[in-house]
Amino acid sequence: MLSWEKIDTVPGWFGFHSYVIWRSLLDHQARTRGDLFEIGVWKGRSAAVLASYLKPDETLYLCDLDVDEPAIRRAFEVVGAAPARLVTLSGPSSKLPGRLDLRSMHQTVRWMHIDGEHTGTAVYSELELANQIVSPDGLVVVDDFFSPRYPANTTEAVRYLDKNPFHFRLLAVAFNKGYFCRPEALPQHMEFISSKLSDAMLAYECKTTIFKTTGSWDTDAVGITGFTDAAGTIAGPDTNPHYWTLIRKKRVPSFLARLRNAWRELKR
Ligand SMILES: C[S@@+](CC[C@H](N)C(=O)[O-])C[C@H]1O[C@@H](n2cnc3c(N)ncnc32)[C@H](O)[C@@H]1O
Repeated sequence: MLSWEKIDTVPGWFGFHSYVIWRSLLDHQARTRGDLFEIGVWKGRSAAVLASYLKPDETLYLCDLDVDEPAIRRAFEVVGAAPARLVTLSGPSSKLPGRLDLRSMHQTVRWMHIDGEHTGTAVYSELELANQIVSPDGLVVVDDFFSPRYPANTTEAVRYLDKNPFHFRLLAVAFNKGYFCRPEALPQHMEFISSKLSDAMLAYECKTTIFKTTGSWDTDAVGITGFTDAAGTIAGPDTNPHYWTLIRKKRVPSFLARLRNAWRELKR
């Protein structure tokens, strides 16, 4: 069974807060079907979390310069995961488009973790790949987002968003990782973040503050940090910390309102 104590025995960089956010978001994907993909596996620390969430008919793709299969198998054993469909891809991520059947993989991946070379060139082309394979409701996670150690990892991910505004939007920045989603799925992800994510993380014994310090005219993204007393679990702009609820998605119209709309459409 998956637990932080078990993951923490596997060598690697994947931290407790990311473990909690991943579990909360992957739990939320319980009814979403799609494959899981990771670039930059090392000894399988974060991959073991993904392996634990793999459904029987889904595939886990793992790419690293030289995939350490015995270490990864050990990591899976630690959490009791035995993925029936595992594809390991040794070599640089830049070679992936030439090695994968991109036609059959078109928009089939529900979770993609980019944690490989951390250069601007690599992250840009990895996002190009993500655009081909990630599903409309899937998530892309970029490691070391806003890390001062890898400036190009952030500047080039942002450049990618800027040049391709209809591919991905930044959804959240949390504990050294950037979370991206498809623009059309942003409202539903944001609804989950604003109404359920805090409690979901708390259930894994992790108290956080979710900041939505501006509105969508600036950026859609939220920032998530360790719990800040002065802010509480969820906070709006510095000037009006209670504003958050006003920028949540509007409610779906009632059944009666939808009937009225349908009647109006019919009469046109
Ligand atoms: C930070 S580690 C990954 C950490 C891992 N996700 C964990 O849970 O601890 C980065 C990995 O990326 C791999 N890597 C570096 N450049 C790469 C590239 N161009 N393509 C694929 N993998 C790469 C390295 O071999 C290394 O194993």
